[in-house]
Amino acid sequence: MSLERTLFIVKPDAVQRNLIGRILAHVEAQGFRILEARLARMTREEAQSFYAEHQGKPFFNDLVEYMTSGKVMLTCLERENGVAALREAVGATEPAQAAPGTVRKLYGESKQMNSVHASDSPASAEREVKLFFGVGALTR
Ligand code: CMP
Repeated sequence: MSLERTLFIVKPDAVQRNLIGRILAHVEAQGFRILEARLARMTREEAQSFYAEHQGKPFFNDLVEYMTSGKVMLTCLERENGVAALREAVGATEPAQAAPGTVRKLYGESKQMNSVHASDSPASAEREVKLFFGVGALTR
């Protein structure tokens, strides 16, 4: 096991509800270090590129609308076994099905407005961190 970096996003619904601090405190308390952080509004192109694997799915256009509807908190987090550990801390996509104590169980509103994103594999983490923070964030 070694230190891994992953992309974590506090989505517009949670930013709007003043949950950035509580959500970042939650993951920090579970041993994640915040290496990068930036509050930004995603462009349409960024959201489409970020979610390219979902292109063509019925929820794709709504997802892009939602992710560009307001600011998001983009972060790069690091921890031992970080990718899998963050997925576990975040919980299932559908908040109602997420395990007790997970970020989505605590704060998610619906399958779409599920408050946070976490990279789903080391390959996705590399692509996603690079997309928002550049290759430097993966090496320094
Ligand atoms: P995320 O982990 O960011 O990855 C893809 C996102 O698409 C997901 O969180 C949800 O916000 C959204 N999503 C996934 N499945 C559905 C669905 N069936 N209906 C609406 N939104 C979805």
